[in-house]
Amino acid sequence: MTDHIQEARRILAVNDRGGYTVPTDRLYPFQWNWDSAFVAMGFALYDVDRAYRELERLAEGQWADGMIPHIVFHQPSDTYFPGPSVWRTKHGIPTSGITQPPVFAIALRQVHDAAGEGARERTLALYLAALKWHRWWYAARDPEGTGLVALLHPWESGSDNSPAWDAAMARVPTTTTTPVVRKDIGHVHADMRPRDEDYRRFIHLVDTYADCGWNPAEQWARAPFKVAEIQTTAILLKAGEDLEHLARLLGRTEEAEEIAAFNALSRKAILGQWRPALSRFVSRDLVSGADIEAATQAGFLPLLALDLEAAMASAAVAEMRRWSAGLKVAFPTTKPGLAAYEPKRYWRGPAWGIINWLLIEGLRRNGEGAFAEELRGSTLSAIEREGFAEYFDPETGEGCGGLGFSWTAAAYLWLKRGGR
Ligand code: GLC
Repeated sequence: MTDHIQEARRILAVNDRGGYTVPTDRLYPFQWNWDSAFVAMGFALYDVDRAYRELERLAEGQWADGMIPHIVFHQPSDTYFPGPSVWRTKHGIPTSGITQPPVFAIALRQVHDAAGEGARERTLALYLAALKWHRWWYAARDPEGTGLVALLHPWESGSDNSPAWDAAMARVPTTTTTPVVRKDIGHVHADMRPRDEDYRRFIHLVDTYADCGWNPAEQWARAPFKVAEIQTTAILLKAGEDLEHLARLLGRTEEAEEIAAFNALSRKAILGQWRPALSRFVSRDLVSGADIEAATQAGFLPLLALDLEAAMASAAVAEMRRWSAGLKVAFPTTKPGLAAYEPKRYWRGPAWGIINWLLIEGLRRNGEGAFAEELRGSTLSAIEREGFAEYFDPETGEGCGGLGFSWTAAAYLWLKRGGR
């Protein structure tokens, strides 16, 4: 075992708060949804019981309507804003009121495969939680049955501060009823974080939805921010494929058919978002009705869930190579050279281990193993040089944001063994 593998495992152990893993101490002191799914896949490589625990603890936060929230506040902490009193949700354990990318079922399949048949009951319980969540996505976030699911808050994308949201967020008022008391800039440099004005808009949305009592239909009607989003839908579709696989394995044929129908709908809808002139996919702003053409990593995430025609895949990869040219660490979350590109501010340029992980899977699926290997090598050496930072400046390679970060540790473990 190399030191880096040991160090990755040590970080996951240090960030353990009792069967769940915080992303990093202080900056993110609770359980985060998609972070935990990546962490569970990391644990699946050496401690399958702990991998199940991670998902089980996340599922404790699942709402009666099926939504799995983006944060589960298992224990109090005063180092993060907005805490439970801002969200005003009604679930037994305090949670946030929005969700995050549904990596859960992708993780569950990996955890189940690592455990083998003996873990059928444990898998079944989590499978049912995932199924309920996928149904929620299609009912609450795609009520018109388009196949693309919509986000009502940028934080639901996991790419919280992406330039993809700039135009849609500019319409969101900066007024809040909740006083904005930022804690993040006490932990990391303000230049790496969103601006105050962005935070007021983020909280305006939270206030608006809390005033709807978190009722999905009311939120849908009142949402000032509504984006049919390509990265989230691609993750939902890949998770849907894994969920369908589990449904068949567990002998739940009718549910498998239901999931297959969701998948077929999303597959077609995502394909419809391909823009040949851009060599990537685009999201749609449901308030303005316009395509979101901002050049971000999300445009390539559909590789994860689609088997593209060879010409489309090679056009996408040629574009990815253009974005990556001359960078110390790929893959940039915003196209270098654009006005919106900021190599150190989070989600506006930096490279992230977990995004690379998903892109690598997508490249392999589409027969682009060579670029996948380059990206894997670039990610591993960035971590080996700089440590387990939240993300990396693609130009200098510098580790930025929070340190001792759980999902970077999980990504290292996963990518080091070669991926799937
Ligand atoms: C930030 C990221 C989000 C992540 C969270 C915890 O908010 O934007 O994707 O889940 O941190 O790591």
